[in-house]
Amino acid sequence: MKKKCLLVLFSALGIGAYAQKSQKTIDQKVSELLSKMTLEEKVGQLVQYSGFEYATGPQNSNSATVLEEIKKGKVGSMLNVFGAQETIAFQKLALQSRLKIPLLFGQDVVHGYRTTFPVNLGQAASWDLGLIEKSERIAATEASAYGIHWTFAPMVDIGRDPRWGRVMEGSGEDTYLGTHIGLARIRGFQGKGLGNLDAIMACAKHFAAYGAAVGGRDYNSVDMSLRQLYETYLPPFKAAAEAGVATFMNSFNDINGIPATANQYIQRELLKGKWNYQGFVVSDWGSIGEMVPHGYAKDSKEAAEKAILAGSDMDMESRSYMAALPQLVQEGKVDIKLIDDAARRILIKKFEMGLFDDPFRFSSDKRQKEQTNNPENRKFGREFGAKSIVLLKNQNNLLPISRSTKTVALIGPFGKETVANHGFWSISFKDDNQRIITQYEGIKNQLDKNSTLLYAKGCNVDDQDKSMFAEAVETAKKADIVIMTLGEGPAMSGEAKSRSNIHFSGVQEDLLKEIAKTGKPIVLMVNAGRPLVFNWAADHIPAIMYTWWLGTEAGNSIADVLFGTVNPGGKLPMSFPRTEGQIPIYYNHYNTGRPAKNNTDRNYVSAYIDLDNDPKYPFGYGLSYTQFKYSDFTVSSSNLKGNQTLDVNVKVSNMGKYDGEEVVQLYIRDLVGKVVRPVKELKGFKKVMIKKGETQTINFKLTPEDLKFYDDELNYDWEGGEFDIMVGTSSQEVQTKRINWIK
Ligand code: NOJ
Repeated sequence: MKKKCLLVLFSALGIGAYAQKSQKTIDQKVSELLSKMTLEEKVGQLVQYSGFEYATGPQNSNSATVLEEIKKGKVGSMLNVFGAQETIAFQKLALQSRLKIPLLFGQDVVHGYRTTFPVNLGQAASWDLGLIEKSERIAATEASAYGIHWTFAPMVDIGRDPRWGRVMEGSGEDTYLGTHIGLARIRGFQGKGLGNLDAIMACAKHFAAYGAAVGGRDYNSVDMSLRQLYETYLPPFKAAAEAGVATFMNSFNDINGIPATANQYIQRELLKGKWNYQGFVVSDWGSIGEMVPHGYAKDSKEAAEKAILAGSDMDMESRSYMAALPQLVQEGKVDIKLIDDAARRILIKKFEMGLFDDPFRFSSDKRQKEQTNNPENRKFGREFGAKSIVLLKNQNNLLPISRSTKTVALIGPFGKETVANHGFWSISFKDDNQRIITQYEGIKNQLDKNSTLLYAKGCNVDDQDKSMFAEAVETAKKADIVIMTLGEGPAMSGEAKSRSNIHFSGVQEDLLKEIAKTGKPIVLMVNAGRPLVFNWAADHIPAIMYTWWLGTEAGNSIADVLFGTVNPGGKLPMSFPRTEGQIPIYYNHYNTGRPAKNNTDRNYVSAYIDLDNDPKYPFGYGLSYTQFKYSDFTVSSSNLKGNQTLDVNVKVSNMGKYDGEEVVQLYIRDLVGKVVRPVKELKGFKKVMIKKGETQTINFKLTPEDLKFYDDELNYDWEGGEFDIMVGTSSQEVQTKRINWIK
């Protein structure tokens, strides 16, 4: 009865009050615990090591010492520990320590856990926040059943350079889209809140500007104005902090000469100061120790000092904190308050996760079994895979293919790949490869019984061997239609996978040209984790679908689109360059004082003398098996004042033969500003299903909030003046209306 009264009281006070009360209790518990801890035990909470079976970086840990250190309470967290039994074993060691503080288990759960989903850039191509959130919900449910408490995701780095291999892990080049996708992922991972058995802590990474590495080379330096940092790279992080993401990870790069890991401005002043962030910050793998080769610390002791002063709370695998922090405190170089603050932040999360009540609560053989090869999760993976595919070209409606096509040939190095379909962040997982649906299987399963599916590998992914060409050509000659599956291998994009040449690797393009000589109709599927350059194919092959790496159910997803069960609706989240020389290339660039009028204008304008300015495929681009017509574009007023709302309406009609999904996009341009403004900025999008023959009116609302930007003194505000309002099917194909909006 008493409990019931209390609950009524809490709900009368609002959820916030309840949260505050329970938070206060946790704060008190943490204070009590801290008061019992030795300096070494406090520093122990700031230490994270990798498990021993596989590593996701250059491993420093020696297994025997780590096990001993856990027993002594000198380790706060482990990453790369796999499964209920292993996490239980490690946790038991932690419970042998004096204060029995449980370990946190972290893992890169990036595009799925047991059921893998499309690589993140592919997911972003779905522009479907609901699907993205659900995929992380599933990933969290699976991972938590395996004893994982914490994922190092979402990566919310903006990526404008496809040479940078990690664009596969992000949401592409646009800040608005990237912010919303990041938030959807956090909602998915953290579910109904930390403490629930199917919720894991999310981690906004890599703070900050990791995506802007010079030359697209991973781990490289970043040099940019603060204004650019605020405008393009920080918003997804700020939004993540506001949304209550449990943790942040800092980044390997230096920003304007100061490594992010020791960057007081970024971590202390901004994140923990201005943004009042209460979670904790983990370093990236070894990034504290790496300040020595950076030339920012003379040894790992100085690196530890600089990192803790700057607000890096946990040391992932560099071993600098345990080796140096106790001594630094004793020498008076580091205030114990900083150690207390870092340990407090980490301990709070352990309490919130319920680990002090039951350190083994996440590691359950039963749940693990239920979440392995789970049919519902796989079903979702199949749907998500199909919805991530982007149709780039479909001359004469070659696609979809009829199931009764007599003979189909599948040619290319990826046709019978298994684990490759997982994509980069799953390759180290133990898995039963039989569970993965290959492209061959997926297509075979959907072809009519009386039809034949032929297969030839044709070449390897990345060598110069053409000895399989002849067999592939013979195979193509026997077919009515050829499906070519080319691209880059899953381990060619991802961490430390920068490429200077982003064409199809090896002799794949030569193979394509040989097959094209047979005159057979060709559908090309491009498998990749980044935008690739494939101009010859784009100009000569009638049908092209970008299939990324789609995960466990890849083959089924692909077949669903090839045969038209699913009408593709994906749109590119990054611009596809014509060649590497255009990089970085992004739709929301500034106009310059000498903009080129068009691709052929070379007369003292900002252009290349040997190359068009625009991309091969623009941001936001993607076709459907049906055709959408935009009409009756209206704005509620062309003269606005102050805090009004602008209604933007457009009719979208499905003129073709298939029901289909369209991503309707809204862009603005602020024509004159205190600082120059991009030629276009995405400010809204709606993904809608429109039945054939149907018309829908799509509405967007704009307020002055959408017009704000950072000026050269980092004030965030809007200015009155003229704006172009644009709606359309891609960043290139839009209709425009000019309005005047005064303050
Ligand atoms: C380094 C990567 O940059 C980071 O994203 C990842 O979470 C850690 N390694 C752990 O694997």
